Amino acid sequence: MGKILILNGSPREPRSNSKQYAALFAKASRMDTEYRAITKTNHLELCRAAADCDQLLLVFPLYADSPPVTLLHFLRALAEHPPAEKPRVSVLINCGFLEPEQNDVAVEIIQAFCQANGYPFGSVLEIGGGEAILNTPFAFLVRRKIGKLAAAMATGRSRRLKVTMPITKKMYLGASTTYWENYGKRNGITRAQMETMEIEGR
Ligand SMILES: Cc1cc2nc3c(=O)[nH]c(=O)nc-3n(C[C@H](O)[C@H](O)[C@H](O)COP(=O)(O)O)c2cc1C
Repeated sequence: MGKILILNGSPREPRSNSKQYAALFAKASRMDTEYRAITKTNHLELCRAAADCDQLLLVFPLYADSPPVTLLHFLRALAEHPPAEKPRVSVLINCGFLEPEQNDVAVEIIQAFCQANGYPFGSVLEIGGGEAILNTPFAFLVRRKIGKLAAAMATGRSRRLKVTMPITKKMYLGASTTYWENYGKRNGITRAQMETMEIEGR
């Protein structure tokens, strides 16, 4: 059986939701599965590691309707330093909004990369409400879909999977507003401050 290399493209990898999704995937995977974070300095190392696997699973969040720059920079390096045998690329993406379809364009961006650079494209799991779902009673829905993604990758099938919380947008908006306002209060940050463009002091 082949090997899967999971690459986490979240800019906040150590405490990212992507890391939790990757860990759930590794637990569900029947294949030899290795996890690596993409950093600013390990692109070439990861290009070499990509030569040593049959499948790549890109796990990342949606940032401004796109894959985050952490991942885009790595993809540029992978285009410049391709492995001789190109692994099949699958995607596990999560976004903050409730609708998993918010991720469609980012998935298309990865598909376009694969097409342009000769990588076979595998399966996709799009997660909506990705910041929250693992801390709700609906976490089992994500685990189930991650299991399906792992099974699809193990059998070489291309599947397009989606999961989110089965609640209305109004309920989600109300619950998430309360969550973020309380989170802000615990950290001494007001709603007005959160509504600025500043991210983590920059
Ligand atoms: C700078 C930034 C931009 C984001 N843009 C979007 C977006 O366009 N659509 C969306 O649904 N969620 C967006 N989100 C929410 C993230 O996708 C969500 O919080 C995700 O769970 C983060 O995953 P991570 O912890 O693996 O980085 C954004 C978050 C940040 C910090």
